[in-house]
Amino acid sequence: MGKNLAVLASGNGSNAENLIRYFRCRESAEVKLVLTNRAEAYALTRAHHLNVPSRFIDRHAWEEGTPVLALLQDYQIDFIVLAGFLARIPNVILQAYPDRIVNIHPSLLPKFGGKGMYGDRVHQAVIAAGEAESGISIHFLNERYDEGRMIAQYRCAVESTDTPETLAAKVHTLEYTYYPQVIEQLLQRC
Ligand code: GRF
Repeated sequence: MGKNLAVLASGNGSNAENLIRYFRCRESAEVKLVLTNRAEAYALTRAHHLNVPSRFIDRHAWEEGTPVLALLQDYQIDFIVLAGFLARIPNVILQAYPDRIVNIHPSLLPKFGGKGMYGDRVHQAVIAAGEAESGISIHFLNERYDEGRMIAQYRCAVESTDTPETLAAKVHTLEYTYYPQVIEQLLQRC
């Protein structure tokens, strides 16, 4: 039977949309719910256009955790995918979904990870450090930012002409290709 996915996104939500579209054509899973911690997240608009239920959850509910867990249970969510989600996942949810929450980070962790390293800040730091390559890291989530067990990493070259914008585009291309595939493989085991 297909698994029920929840995608958590704080911003633009292009990965959320990509995941919705990818799993729409497959039997392995379906994105049943999109959650955000930011009322103005464009991810909500994308979910609406694609007819996927979505909710803004306020800070108080994220901190408490149990209202969010209840919502996940209402939708019979099996697996949680973070895609540009910038709030802490409550412990009650981490405990309810062991090895069933994954995150994507737009660098080759452990480089350029940790609190405050998100979005273009990561790409700016990679370029400023003169790195020859960057990429994406897909990992399980634990209580410490970006330090959960690594699942997969994919690389791209950083050219001397790259800007944070061009590097972000390369990284997004990797994300759109590999994040759905890696999730699909993980779902076969859970
Ligand atoms: C992605 O680069 C992801 O790796 C990072 O945040 C970005 C989200 O982009 N965690 P989008 O909102 O999916 O367009």
